[in-house]
Amino acid sequence: MPERSPRSSRFPVGAAVELAELERDPYPVFARLREREPVSWLPALNMWYVTRYEHVRAIILDTERFTTVSEHSLLLDTFGTHLLTTEGALHDRYRRAVQPHFSAGFVRDHFEDPIRIAAAELIESFRSAGRVELRAAFARRLPIQAMLIACGLPVTSELRIRQWYDSFEAALANFTLDRTVRLRAQRDVAALHELLQSVMPPAAGPVDASLLASLINMPTGERLGDDEIKRNLSIILFGGISTVEALILNTLWALFEHPAVLSRLRADATLLPEVLDEAIRWLSPVQSATRHVVKDCEIAGVRLKAGATVNCMLGAANRDPRIFPHPDNFDIERTNLRRHLGFATGPHSCVGFYLAKSEARIALEELLTLLPQFTLVGSESGPLRGYEFRQPAALTIAW
Ligand code: HEM
Repeated sequence: MPERSPRSSRFPVGAAVELAELERDPYPVFARLREREPVSWLPALNMWYVTRYEHVRAIILDTERFTTVSEHSLLLDTFGTHLLTTEGALHDRYRRAVQPHFSAGFVRDHFEDPIRIAAAELIESFRSAGRVELRAAFARRLPIQAMLIACGLPVTSELRIRQWYDSFEAALANFTLDRTVRLRAQRDVAALHELLQSVMPPAAGPVDASLLASLINMPTGERLGDDEIKRNLSIILFGGISTVEALILNTLWALFEHPAVLSRLRADATLLPEVLDEAIRWLSPVQSATRHVVKDCEIAGVRLKAGATVNCMLGAANRDPRIFPHPDNFDIERTNLRRHLGFATGPHSCVGFYLAKSEARIALEELLTLLPQFTLVGSESGPLRGYEFRQPAALTIAW
């Protein structure tokens, strides 16, 4: 099979894709690519796009030919070496250290109650107003508070974390390597490390349920170095913020678009787990998982060269009709709705997926209980945006 050059005219579908179109609504683009050019070179992004479920899944499971490690990675440039920029033994070591902290049992026993209190307090702060723009007042705030609880950081650091987060987000989208953006993020990562250092409990001190305390108190031999703890906590903090914000907002968006499901949910809140999984499939908060080609290889008849960047489009895989019949329908009765790849799969699958789902479930439960019969103010909501991370720009509700 002759190698297909990225610039070849054999790639009319990917070559024609424009960023503005992806940003506005990636799903029609995904559908075209998935059917006509499932492994496609996108000159607009200078990377490969993979859009079918089977290929996306195969690539993220294939750690011999694909890796998260690259000297060009903005994740590496911003946060250094951590869970999402390592493979093999080092990655396993990091993962073993943090994973127990995010298991279903641990989250249930230690984090759900404080997160519920935080959610209820946020809602109380605007309840008397009768309407609110929920993204700014609730969905952007609760995930930061939850991460402070889980990691063991003072609640007073919410505003600082918000500012640092925005700087990190800019650095991770800094494809033009703008010096100011990069330097600001480096300064803010250093400030976050300082904060972590200042609250690190003494080794062999009293162990609370926080991630920081349990990492400090790991047995010698398994314990990560202080710097490793700070780098991994930084990516964990970063990973748990706008993702959960998007899950809360996208689920509400899906419910407002499907009022019959919202009515069913109001009558029976036990449907929430299905609603959340279907929302992750239908409007995936994280739309892609990026990999770099380790050695020349072929996927679906397309030659990929070592060093090339491949974006595995989770959002496109989650709408693949080969796996999810009538994929554009939001349908909580799907028998396989948990097969979505919204949290990826394999060694780098989301370590915080249970916490994310708990937070979103608690957020929705508290909204449904404390603000009964809230409705959408359509004129002050939307639009949905984004092809890497996707969520509504604003969502106003009234009650
Ligand atoms: C709805 C919310 C969330 C979504 C959709 C989501 C999605 C993802 C996805 C798709 C990946 C895989 C990335 C890849 O393979 O390249 C991932 C990894 C990761 N996520 Fe999440 N995430 C969410 C919430 C969270 C939360 C709450 C945390 C913090 C506890 C978190 C921390 C991480 C970390 C540290 C990784 C890297 C894991 C590794 O490389 O071993 N995420 N997430």
